[in-house]
Amino acid sequence: MANDVTRRDFNRSLAAGSALVGFAAAPAIAAEDTPAILGGTPARSAPFTVWPKIKANDEQSWMGVLREGKWCRLDGNHAAEFERAWADTLGVSHCLATSCGTTALSTTLNALDIAPGDEVIVPPYTFVATVNPVLLQHALPIFVDSDIETFQIDASKIEAAITPNTRAILPVHLGGSPADMDSILAVAAKHRIPVIEDACQAHLAEWKGKKVGGLGQAGCFSFQASKNLNSGEGGAIVTNDSALMDRAISFHNNGRGTGAVSGYVRNGSNHRMTEFQAALLVSQLSRLVEQSDVRWNNAKYLTKQLEQIPGIHPARMYAGVTRNAYHLYMFRFDSEEFSGLARAQFMKALQAEGIPCSGGYTPLNKEAFLENTLQSRAYQKIYSQAELNVYRERNHCPVNDQLCEQAVWFGQTMLLGPRSDMDDIANAIRKVQKHAATLRKV
Ligand SMILES: Cc1ncc(COP(=O)(O)O)c(C=O)c1O
Repeated sequence: MANDVTRRDFNRSLAAGSALVGFAAAPAIAAEDTPAILGGTPARSAPFTVWPKIKANDEQSWMGVLREGKWCRLDGNHAAEFERAWADTLGVSHCLATSCGTTALSTTLNALDIAPGDEVIVPPYTFVATVNPVLLQHALPIFVDSDIETFQIDASKIEAAITPNTRAILPVHLGGSPADMDSILAVAAKHRIPVIEDACQAHLAEWKGKKVGGLGQAGCFSFQASKNLNSGEGGAIVTNDSALMDRAISFHNNGRGTGAVSGYVRNGSNHRMTEFQAALLVSQLSRLVEQSDVRWNNAKYLTKQLEQIPGIHPARMYAGVTRNAYHLYMFRFDSEEFSGLARAQFMKALQAEGIPCSGGYTPLNKEAFLENTLQSRAYQKIYSQAELNVYRERNHCPVNDQLCEQAVWFGQTMLLGPRSDMDDIANAIRKVQKHAATLRKV
């Protein structure tokens, strides 16, 4: 620490004369204190943790499958091994590995027989892959507005969105932070509607000590390259409902019968996971708990720091959250506390300081894919113009619109390094805030 101070003082004295070239009106400040976007020294020059982390057991797993020559799960046993391990990890009875998270959701909706005319309740603050499977069933995704403090679906608004056509509630544990599951499960039980958890970002997240994915009728996971458990692509469905699992297994395997039933018994598709993906997941799983602990502890520390910065509001967690998977670290940026600096300017300045960040999602319920789908031949055949107009009138999420304008994200890999990385993030934000008035004019 003492060395650090000395180094800083030294840099300051060296840089004081040269840092202000081109900024004649500004007071004399050191290069280290000058915003990097204005030519100063970045708050951080080292890269954050690389992802994926590859260890010897990953190489063994991968080469093992290669040499066995049984690359399809119909021939090998790695997919079954991963399914058992993932089910045990989450404390559920059944797991089905799929090719990705999107096909896990699609398979689940098919297993629940979601059909044209049905409505599925979804949040607007999510990746498009939560909603696409609903549209592929030719059902209607009903967007329920966001809770601006938690970034999650506002569970208090779900009941008002339920109609006789509601066939499922599909909450997302966005960013790895569990949605308000007590409220969601209560309203679902009252109306006898199944809950499918989109846990694609929420590996090992917990609600009141229970792992998410196993709280509703079924839970879906993604193991796509950016996710906290990664096999490039990959997915899984977990459930305690054996009849549902049976239909899911059948659907994802071209509609083949399961157990003693042979032949093709239903319309299906091929959403099988490869043996390569499964073997890689088994080896990566050996590090998931340890990595999740690092993210959780770093995120808690970062939150303590960021809460002290006026205008930075880290996403709040519901009281029932006992573990956030922190696939994303999300906060709201209040421009007023940064001398009117726009969010885009804030992010540019922060990126220049060596802190990668993004503005996150745009309002999904307003994206072109939705209206284009409503105008597709299939939807025009299924729904009357009057029904589609009623749907359009219901589709407003003003809180989410506001959230999308204020959000800033850090990725999960930034939480995997030492605690000093969190200090760098907080220091960089403080630095941008200090110079916000100048940056606003640039
Ligand atoms: C919330 C959410 N749902 C669904 C998916 C779809 O998963 P995949 O990319 O594995 O198909 C993702 C992946 O990014 C996601 O973040």
